[in-house]
Amino acid sequence: MSTPPFKRILLKLSGEAFKGSRDYGIDPEFLVFVANELKEGYERGVQIAIVIGGGNIFRGIAAAANGMDRVTADYSGMLATIMNALALQDALKKVGLDSRVQTSIEMKEIAEPFILQKAVRHLEKNRIVIFAGGTGNPYFTTDTTAALRAAEIGADAIFKATQVDGVYDCDPMTNPDAKKYDELPYMEVLQKDLKVMDSTAISLSKDNDLPIVVFKLTDKGNIGKILGGESIGTVIGGECYAKS
Ligand code: GTP
Repeated sequence: MSTPPFKRILLKLSGEAFKGSRDYGIDPEFLVFVANELKEGYERGVQIAIVIGGGNIFRGIAAAANGMDRVTADYSGMLATIMNALALQDALKKVGLDSRVQTSIEMKEIAEPFILQKAVRHLEKNRIVIFAGGTGNPYFTTDTTAALRAAEIGADAIFKATQVDGVYDCDPMTNPDAKKYDELPYMEVLQKDLKVMDSTAISLSKDNDLPIVVFKLTDKGNIGKILGGESIGTVIGGECYAKS
């Protein structure tokens, strides 16, 4: 097997994706799909960290818009990400992948607390590390968590899984003439407000020279393709993209 071009990556999964074909909650079949998608990279020795959203269970911003206190709503959203993390760990175990969940909000009975050095040791031992609970602070998204944790663990890139196969100049679901970008500078994402990730996440990635690979999760084999260095989706900040 050839050496993978990435040593360590951070995969950002949206909570919405965890619904699969359901309206709400967690689709176990989808989790097994994700776990199987990760298998090839895992077996090639790519160190994989994961950050998950919680929107399939609780959307903090929507709850705040409906009158809930924003801080309370955000904490509830953080708890939702922990449920998703435990469910994903269960699916990883089913397909034989070793993993550890770390939470930014301490709940030792349920999972390890986030300790950076320990997370890095787990990665070095080829354990997938799932970072749950967001940054542990309200007003930050799980996209920003992904950028923060990726910088902390020294990831080569962030893999941002989405419903579409990359970044477009307008919504491809409603506009058949939408143009897909293969590469994008960080500044263009911010200036055009392309809504791939929130501006805090993009800025943090830019400041830390972290490329973001935006790709479609539900196309089977995509994670393996990116981990193998294939150019699919859109690369943001590609000037420092760690291709061999
Ligand atoms: P090594 O240091 O390589 O042995 O790592 P390890 O994770 O296998 O060992 P450790 O003894 O730290 O953990 C054993 C198991 O307990 C793993 O499944 C951990 O995820 C889990 N674990 C460790 N610390 C905590 C904690 O604070 N809370 C909970 N709930 N589980 C923990």
